[in-house]
Amino acid sequence: MQNIKIFPDPQLLAQAAAEQFVQISDRSIHAHGVFSVALSGGSTPYLLYNLLATEPYSERVDWSRVHFFWGDERCVPPDHSESNYFKAHQILLQHLPILEENVHRIQAELKPELAAELYEETLLQFFSNLLDEEERVHARFDLVLLGMGDDGHTASLFPGTPAVLENRRWVAAQYVDKLAAWRITLTPAILNRAEHIIFLVSGAAKSYTLQRVIYGSYMPDRYPSQVIKPENGDLIWLLDEAAASLF
Ligand code: 6PG
Repeated sequence: MQNIKIFPDPQLLAQAAAEQFVQISDRSIHAHGVFSVALSGGSTPYLLYNLLATEPYSERVDWSRVHFFWGDERCVPPDHSESNYFKAHQILLQHLPILEENVHRIQAELKPELAAELYEETLLQFFSNLLDEEERVHARFDLVLLGMGDDGHTASLFPGTPAVLENRRWVAAQYVDKLAAWRITLTPAILNRAEHIIFLVSGAAKSYTLQRVIYGSYMPDRYPSQVIKPENGDLIWLLDEAAASLF
């Protein structure tokens, strides 16, 4: 049963996402003292990040307890306009009273395989600090924010790429032919452990693919967003009417 919420426009979608972010951060901090969130790349979340950086939302989160991660990163320097870290820093992070050491960016300026290995280490370190030995198996993000491309990709899990079906390693480096570029991405192995996963999808250009992803047959190699199925957490699709126009 898909949990789908449809809003008239991207701004109302972003407000709903901001409300979810605040509520999940409250619950996570109350439950275990921190809130770990994997931010989405792409442009859809910009409205959400802008809302979180301004009142009233910016006053409703205990930012000192928030740990920021990324679902994927382009293999460019952190000050490059294409960097997901750069955009999140510009729109959100630089405006908040966060602790620098709680911003865990993917060092995608390094060789791709090394960047992936280092990020996997970062995740293992973070979750092992949180959990003792036997609990490590429960390593999970409190919240994962995801977008969806009009080809059905999410994070940097693109159609036909090996990371889509990776169920052991948490982070993968892969060359994406259609982009002629390297990407670093979290894999379903860690994404699907999340407590809460929120897809943010807006715009008519995605309506056909979105309809296939949600209601079509299961073909994750063709529509990688279908591989996102939280093991014990919940998945919410926050859509605008344009993206949901073929439902
Ligand atoms: C990225 C994202 C990617 C994005 C989709 C949607 O690095 O680009 O992680 O998965 O979410 O491509 O992008 P838009 O929100 O810009 O449509």
